[in-house]
Amino acid sequence: MKPIQVGLLGIGTVGSGVFNVLQRNQEEIRRRAGRGIEIAMVADLDVERARKVVGEGVQVVSDARAVIANPEIDIVIELIGGYGIAKALVLEAIAAGKHVVTANKALLAVHGTEIFAAASAKGVMVAFEAAVAGGIPIIKALREGLTANRIQWLAGIINGTTNFILSEMRDKGLDFAVVLKEAQRLGYAETDPTFDIEGVDAAHKATIMSAIAFGIPVQFDKAYVEGITQLSATDIKYAEQLGYRIKLLGITKRVDKGIELRVHPSLVPSKRLIANVEGAMNAVVVQGDAVGATLYYGKGAGSEPTASAVIADLVDITRLHTVDPLNRVPHLAFQPHTLDQAMS
Ligand code: HSE
Repeated sequence: MKPIQVGLLGIGTVGSGVFNVLQRNQEEIRRRAGRGIEIAMVADLDVERARKVVGEGVQVVSDARAVIANPEIDIVIELIGGYGIAKALVLEAIAAGKHVVTANKALLAVHGTEIFAAASAKGVMVAFEAAVAGGIPIIKALREGLTANRIQWLAGIINGTTNFILSEMRDKGLDFAVVLKEAQRLGYAETDPTFDIEGVDAAHKATIMSAIAFGIPVQFDKAYVEGITQLSATDIKYAEQLGYRIKLLGITKRVDKGIELRVHPSLVPSKRLIANVEGAMNAVVVQGDAVGATLYYGKGAGSEPTASAVIADLVDITRLHTVDPLNRVPHLAFQPHTLDQAMS
């Protein structure tokens, strides 16, 4: 059977990882997906850079719309980021009947309702494992592994940049600004680090997890968001003396009136596992009524960890194409409840 044909929009850090891991593990991936997965076309404004990554065998263009217009392409991977052009391209890809895989948490947290509705109407998938906690398969854990549970709450360190900053401030007694520069140098921070340090990136991810955990729409505008910019090394030292670590947590839970969704610095008792998640690592604790507490830990960013999640989505979509003779695919739209209705 011909490999499923994939078009990649944006081949920076994560896109290169996707290409390299697909190449390196192609036999395992083909066996698990039931069919080969081939990056057939790449769009990037920097055509030279893209060509260096993929070599001569793959078509490289500067116009993302050429990928969407190609009838041979089954799946479009969006790795451009942001709400602007990425939103238009994702909606155009859906309208053209392509499945979409994206790592774009900002886009889904803010425009997810519109995007999932469009995918649902068209009968295509929008898959986004890479949008939350990078290489940790938390979306699949919530959607599949924990599907029997009534989720009571979840809490996570879901921004590596801020966790790195807090860890370094504590360990080395360094100032916030110095450590932020280091985080940027290491490539953890978003292009605009404001999203990291003000808690916005974590809130995007918490919004998406909340929607899945509680079956509500993505409603970023309802989240309480507070970052780490007001924290000093002294706050961190005092917390330590009292037996706590300060962590930026994304928290969502059932409360009497509905669902709570918030991101803010939190005092976590030093003995808790999550208090000991250091550096740029991510971790999420999910409390289900049947399973109890479960903990997911791993790299929340980076080229190959994020590629691991993108490719898992490619495999999921490919399996559905392969096993269903009518090519019907379930969509990932959310139920039209509001945050407040979720409890009623
Ligand atoms: N800037 C993000 C972080 C990258 O620090 O976690 C991954 O989403």
